[in-house]
Amino acid sequence: MLAPAQQDQFCDALKEVAGAEAARFFQLEETFAQYHPDGPEAPAAADRRASLHSTLGAGRRRGAPRGGRVPNFETDVVIVGGCGHVGLPLAIALADSDARVAIFDVSEPAVKAVNDAVLPFDERGAGPILERVVAAGTLRATTKPSVVGDAESVIVVIATPVDEHLNPDPQAIPRALGLCTEYFRDGQLLVLRSSVYPGVTAQVERMVADLGRQIEVAFCPERIAEGHAMTELFTLPQIVGARTPEARQRATALFHRLTSTIVDLEPEEAELAKLFTNTWRYIKFAAANQLFMMANDRGLDFERIRRALSQDYPRAADMPSAGFAAGPCLLKDTMQLAAFNNNNFTLGHSAMLVNEGLPLYLVARLEQEYDLASMTVGILGMAFKAGSDDTRSSLSYKLKRILEFKAKRVLCTDPLVTTDPTLVSLEQVLADSDLLVLATPHTEYAGLHATVPIADVWNVLGRGVRV
Ligand SMILES: NC(=O)c1ccc[n+]([C@@H]2O[C@H](COP(=O)([O-])OP(=O)(O)OC[C@H]3O[C@@H](n4cnc5c(N)ncnc54)[C@H](O)[C@@H]3O)[C@@H](O)[C@H]2O)c1
Repeated sequence: MLAPAQQDQFCDALKEVAGAEAARFFQLEETFAQYHPDGPEAPAAADRRASLHSTLGAGRRRGAPRGGRVPNFETDVVIVGGCGHVGLPLAIALADSDARVAIFDVSEPAVKAVNDAVLPFDERGAGPILERVVAAGTLRATTKPSVVGDAESVIVVIATPVDEHLNPDPQAIPRALGLCTEYFRDGQLLVLRSSVYPGVTAQVERMVADLGRQIEVAFCPERIAEGHAMTELFTLPQIVGARTPEARQRATALFHRLTSTIVDLEPEEAELAKLFTNTWRYIKFAAANQLFMMANDRGLDFERIRRALSQDYPRAADMPSAGFAAGPCLLKDTMQLAAFNNNNFTLGHSAMLVNEGLPLYLVARLEQEYDLASMTVGILGMAFKAGSDDTRSSLSYKLKRILEFKAKRVLCTDPLVTTDPTLVSLEQVLADSDLLVLATPHTEYAGLHATVPIADVWNVLGRGVRV
């Protein structure tokens, strides 16, 4: 007769084995249905798998085998580059789902901050959960790559940057993985999550095969917007790009911890899906910015026109306002796609010219109206977008550089940015400036009263956008 604790363990083990076997069966059923699309099995299999997930998923035990041949690991997930804007919210969310999560990151200050339960940057709602999971011991960070060997799933969120000539570096992820490969173990799942140059997933698959390791690889892109991770991780569908049923099933189980909807693609489709998403947004912003310039050059208010044309007219409801389209992803990913298409990407390159040209256009317009050389110009907002403390690839800094060349003096302020010691208070900017440019539409500026002219391309003040 088993003791009660042993009975519990036995039941859990039975559930896991049954769960893994049933999940594999349903996966086979769905694969079969894909080749026999008229068959009745597909929806039934999907329904039963969802029901299986809700029955067994929540009770899944840590480090348990998911594919039937996964060895025991001390940790469920390790996130490579996990102290950054994408990796940390994901690590926090997974740790809060009762997974044991480790972070490997090369940044010592960021690792220390995470282990001290301090967010290294602002991310709405993440702070209290970070405190909880660090206190519970389900999340820890380290600068030691050996931690990669402890985890059943390895998620990589290292970026693929573009250089100053807009060339992507497809070796960025393989190079970053070079620090970890000696710790790779048979039976691991390797998930690529950052935007990648198309073909990198296949390259990583070849890399692990050359190492002689039995590792499943999947590409599961992150699609959250910075600042909204702690809601969007749980509400957005997760795209899973996988080549083998085993990789698909394991990646699906991993992300089912967070979200109920999984969208299946091949890795190459998923890589493009991520780049297409950011490029689409970037082109939409460029279209609005060009229309703004067109109206503005004729003395017309683009925002009045935009509001009028979209009123009760759903086909135009998605036209964005004019404004700086910046940040670490949109331009970079558009340029990755351009390089992938042998630099034949007229729309993408045009979008870059328009969006990157907006600060130059604004200053040129201001020059026509004002004697900038004799003026102090104040820039309100240095983060790349509203409500954020992130200055990466912010066009406010491009605006600052242009104005520093043209104006007598430039003062900059931001209510959220803490990383730039040259920033001054809003009060000082308002007191000392002859002209203001509202560069980032932080809500803090909504009720602003200033005695000098303000260029407000976002219409934060509701007075129109003519410059
Ligand atoms: N920021 C977003 O909103 C967002 C959204 C979706 C996708 N992405 C994509 O995610 C990727 C990462 O973006 P991010 O904003 O998290 O970047 P980030 O700079 O905030 O974070 C990257 C982290 O990786 C660490 N790191 C760098 N090289 C490393 C290495 N070799 N080994 C271990 N750690 C290393 C850094 O110290 C840093 O903590 C990018 O490709 C980006 O395009 C970003």
